[in-house]
Amino acid sequence: MYSITGATGNTGSVIAAKLLARGEHVRVIGRDAGRLGGFVQKGAEAFVGDVTDAAALTKAFTGAKAVYAMIPPNPAAADVSGYQERVSDALATAIKNAGVGYAVVLSSVGADKQAKTGPVVGLHNLEQKLSGIAGLSALYIRAGYFMQNTLAQIGVIQNFGLLGGPLRADLAVAMIAARDIGDRAAEELLRLSFTGKQARELLGQRDLTYQEVASVIGKAIDRPNLTYSQFPAALIKPALLQSGMSSSMADLILEMSEALNSGYMAPLEPRSAQNTTPTTFESFVTEEFAPRFRGKAAAS
Ligand SMILES: NC(=O)c1ccc[n+]([C@@H]2O[C@H](COP(=O)([O-])OP(=O)(O)OC[C@H]3O[C@@H](n4cnc5c(N)ncnc54)[C@H](OP(=O)(O)O)[C@@H]3O)[C@@H](O)[C@H]2O)c1
Repeated sequence: MYSITGATGNTGSVIAAKLLARGEHVRVIGRDAGRLGGFVQKGAEAFVGDVTDAAALTKAFTGAKAVYAMIPPNPAAADVSGYQERVSDALATAIKNAGVGYAVVLSSVGADKQAKTGPVVGLHNLEQKLSGIAGLSALYIRAGYFMQNTLAQIGVIQNFGLLGGPLRADLAVAMIAARDIGDRAAEELLRLSFTGKQARELLGQRDLTYQEVASVIGKAIDRPNLTYSQFPAALIKPALLQSGMSSSMADLILEMSEALNSGYMAPLEPRSAQNTTPTTFESFVTEEFAPRFRGKAAAS
């Protein structure tokens, strides 16, 4: 049996679907039974619980030969780092107390660094806590920048006619589709061929700059002259707050952007067949970005 945290989310839903399609017994974890219902119809067992609750997670992990462990984002939390620590404490306690043998863990490029990488510090600390558990084999998937992050640009394009953000326009970023992470994590869960504690990066199909991102999006939404501008932190923070983020999250995002812009936070592995995944940014834009952009345009 496999226990999957974040099962209704971007990566967890792909993992749960793939394991179920292979006839595996899956326990899907989330906060709401209704949202887990689709998996239950396909044979999964639903477990309703909060990832900050170690006792609930211990029950959810008991009997699992392997778990998929992740820290769900909580961008409105007043203290995002404190929330991340509570989740990683609960995950580590539950994995230890349930005697879980294998964990595939969602981490990030930059999780090698102890500090100054914004929300990725929480993933570094998660790795550290799990690495302290004797008898656990853990694979830390250090994923690149999610293509889904660019969905935040839909409103920016609609309001300002351009893309804008804190990253340098010419910074080449390893961008990955969340479904590719889910696919790889599911493969690793099915194989369980890792031992000890290992970190492996997953860098998406290719590196892209935000300039290229603007050009690909521009072509797909019939705005061929769309460009990207880097905005100063002082302008970005109010926009992040307006989007519903807490001040704590906005500060972490800005810290991470600085770490990316300076090259402090960057992949450690050279790009290879092993850490490259199939979904192109073009297909992400065709399948996800453009339909959402048009949907929002039609609604406004
Ligand atoms: N964005 C990036 O560029 C990037 C890069 C590398 C790594 N990461 C990491 O990737 C992770 C996000 O992965 P994802 O996109 O797969 O996640 P996601 O889709 O945002 O969230 C996963 C699920 O977690 C559940 N959830 C939320 N809060 C919960 C709670 N308190 N207790 C139990 N379940 C809860 C939600 O389901 P319910 O609503 O059904 O409960 C949600 O569907 C983060 O750890 C992030 O740091 C992100």
